[in-house]
Amino acid sequence: MHGPMANAALIDRLNQASVNHINFPLVTLPFDEAPGEQSYWMPPELTTLYGTAVWDELSEDQKIDLSQKEFALICSISCNGEKEAIGDIAKIMLKSKFESVRSYLSHLIREENNHIDMFVEFCNRYGELTRFRYFYTKGDQCTDPAFNDLLAFIHLLVFEELGDNINRVMARDKSLPPLVRAINKLHAEEEARHIAFGRHIVTELATELSRKISANQTRKLHDYVYSHIHTRHYEYHNMRIYSSIGIDNAFSLRERLVLERDASFFFRTESDPHTPLKKILTFLHSIGLISDAQLHEPPRQMLNVERAAETLCAR
Ligand SMILES: [Fe+2]
Ligand SMILES: [Fe+2]
Repeated sequence: MHGPMANAALIDRLNQASVNHINFPLVTLPFDEAPGEQSYWMPPELTTLYGTAVWDELSEDQKIDLSQKEFALICSISCNGEKEAIGDIAKIMLKSKFESVRSYLSHLIREENNHIDMFVEFCNRYGELTRFRYFYTKGDQCTDPAFNDLLAFIHLLVFEELGDNINRVMARDKSLPPLVRAINKLHAEEEARHIAFGRHIVTELATELSRKISANQTRKLHDYVYSHIHTRHYEYHNMRIYSSIGIDNAFSLRERLVLERDASFFFRTESDPHTPLKKILTFLHSIGLISDAQLHEPPRQMLNVERAAETLCAR
């Protein structure tokens, strides 16, 4: 982004922080310290079944098994999101409009690649890596690059904003294995910088796009962003994991939970999960990415319909 679009002081500060805190997790994290087989790898209240009637029926061994498999699932979800972000950003980083932020995009790609290494290493050693097919990955690109540039950073920012709380909760929980805490601590620290950058660049790109799109395109963009936020919890609910710990009707359990829940799922350990979510929605509303109604009304039931990005730029 040229001249006035880039906040030079912010980019300088972030570049400096990335250099000063350069960190290669495969070297610095205690990967040889295996997490205990009989211990929780996530606090029970972060597992997807906690607080449901199904949870109350589980044995202690099943609860521990669930927490271990769901931690490996979170690692998998993270590195799947990160490889999408790296791919999307690598493709566009040499455009002249990104000139003043390009140095930071490079740091961001390196850091996300380190996160992939870290999550993959954990799964290779102690868990199972789950692969996903994101609905917005391939074949869903708009014909208008301005949409795709914005979507690349919206996808990353939403993913980071929603995941941040989970990382922080696990980083400070002294009952968790040291390796699990270290992974979450490193991730939370680097993601805080990515979020600061993401808010900046999404604001710039959204402002730029809003000047040239029709009312109909704006409405579709709002619906897309809103649905995107309120469907991110889907992949945290995994039917195969439910089956593998011995739950019957894993499919219907998964379907019921994802439809009952919305993005407040990511803040469920907070006293009021809606407050941090409202902050994110308020930010997106302030830069014209969701509508007044979407900011103020509870999520609609039809959110299970995943919207494809490819139709966004049609007028
Ligand atoms: Fe990351
Ligand atoms: Fe990130």
